[in-house]
Amino acid sequence: MPRAKGQGRPAREKAGARGAEAAREPPLTLGVSGLGFVGVAMSVAFAHYGHDVVGYDVVDRRREEVGRGHAPFFDPGLEEELSSAVKSGRLRVAKDRESFFRDADVVFLCLPTPSRSDGSVETSFLEEEALRLGKLLRRSRSWKLIVVKSTSPPGTVRKIERIIAGESGKKPGEDFSVASNPEFLAEGNLVRDALEPSRIVVGTSDERSERTLRQAYSGFPGPFVALPPTSSELVKYSSNALLAVKVSFANEIARLAEKVGSDVYPVMEAVGMDPRLGKAFLRAGPGFGGSCFPKDLKGLVAFARQMGVPLPVTDAALNVNETQARHVVDLAETASGGLLAGREVALLGLAFKRDTDDVRESRAYPILGELLKRGALVRLHDPKAAESFRAGLPKILSVDPGPRVRFCETPEEALRGANLALVQCDWEEYAALPPSAWKELKDRLVIDARRSVDPATMRRAGVRYVAIGKGEP
Ligand SMILES: NC(=O)c1ccc[n+]([C@@H]2O[C@H](COP(=O)([O-])OP(=O)(O)OC[C@H]3O[C@@H](n4cnc5c(N)ncnc54)[C@H](O)[C@@H]3O)[C@@H](O)[C@H]2O)c1
Repeated sequence: MPRAKGQGRPAREKAGARGAEAAREPPLTLGVSGLGFVGVAMSVAFAHYGHDVVGYDVVDRRREEVGRGHAPFFDPGLEEELSSAVKSGRLRVAKDRESFFRDADVVFLCLPTPSRSDGSVETSFLEEEALRLGKLLRRSRSWKLIVVKSTSPPGTVRKIERIIAGESGKKPGEDFSVASNPEFLAEGNLVRDALEPSRIVVGTSDERSERTLRQAYSGFPGPFVALPPTSSELVKYSSNALLAVKVSFANEIARLAEKVGSDVYPVMEAVGMDPRLGKAFLRAGPGFGGSCFPKDLKGLVAFARQMGVPLPVTDAALNVNETQARHVVDLAETASGGLLAGREVALLGLAFKRDTDDVRESRAYPILGELLKRGALVRLHDPKAAESFRAGLPKILSVDPGPRVRFCETPEEALRGANLALVQCDWEEYAALPPSAWKELKDRLVIDARRSVDPATMRRAGVRYVAIGKGEP
């Protein structure tokens, strides 16, 4: 279970600059609207540091589940933290928006901001919610702080402020304020990231909002960075774009390493020893997926285009990523003697990364599409994400693949009698498979797109091991 500094003590008793300031303020009730990955993780974290938290979601089932202390998705340690937050009485879920808004002093909007078909960011969830909150604010007599936690383009806070002011007839900065507070947590590590943020970035236009957010984050470790709203909004996009650039750069060098008989892993390890660069996000693989990087990079590029500013570096990171799935399948095809048609491939790992059941933008989708295009038969396995992956299949496959795609209950079942295996996701259980499981592959061939299985195990199994980013010396 992740542990953070000062854990378990109520926020208002905390020592330290932020805690001491907060101790003089009346207690706040923190409202979290949208109980998805970010909303649930942040509700748990605020409750963990002793705040009174009220949650709300438009989906009845979500409210009911979270209200019972049951995590709606898998992430290590989340179920336990959520259940204890609810049991302690510090976290509850409101039955409707009216009571939620009435009880909350601060409303954190953790709503979806998906991509539109042209890559630009769909902010209508936030805008429509702003209209509803504006109506409720009209009848409210207390000052409210609305915080945009969703990843949204620079200028969104201002837009939300205008909508609420127009709908409520109230004055921004006096009767209510709108602030930005982007979130940097990563799935697969939700609890620790929420409890121990690398930094808390806020974008405020008035002193009261900043003071209130300092109080909301009292007890949290990590530096508190206060900026104007537009800059705070830009921090989030810049962070994700730069991380994605590192991933795509490692993938680009991986292709070169394969050609020249080098190995990108020790190369990037040595590159990352330079403290100016750092080792994180330099591991070559099948490309980045998930609900954030692809969407946020496209959103940033589209927003900058509207502003008349080209972003060639970010664009290139996206391009490398889009071709990486094909590259992985090329590795499999070349290793199979140039022919995948009619071969059975065990595709291991469907989640966009390990330790989550989230399959949004998972690289397993384009890899599967490419395998089918080349005539392969595919067996699929994932310890947590098989069901959500299956649900997303109709969206990516224009025709029903019928028996050419089959889900397997265990990795052993996927391997037994398949020609080759392609490891897309670095789940621990694949690394733990004994040589006897891999021996069951007819062609004794494994393509490791995550560098997650041990080459020594492959040698013991008598399996040819093709690792992404590693050429034949
Ligand atoms: N998932 C991540 O790892 C992550 C990390 C950092 C930032 N973000 C950003 O945070 C935002 C939320 O992401 P997420 O992954 O938590 O999304 P999500 O889809 O998991 O959750 C969104 C929730 O909002 C609810 N919702 C929709 N409209 C609503 C409304 N009007 N009122 C109340 N609830 C409503 C949905 O039912 C859903 O439960 C996005 O902007 C995302 O880009 C996500």
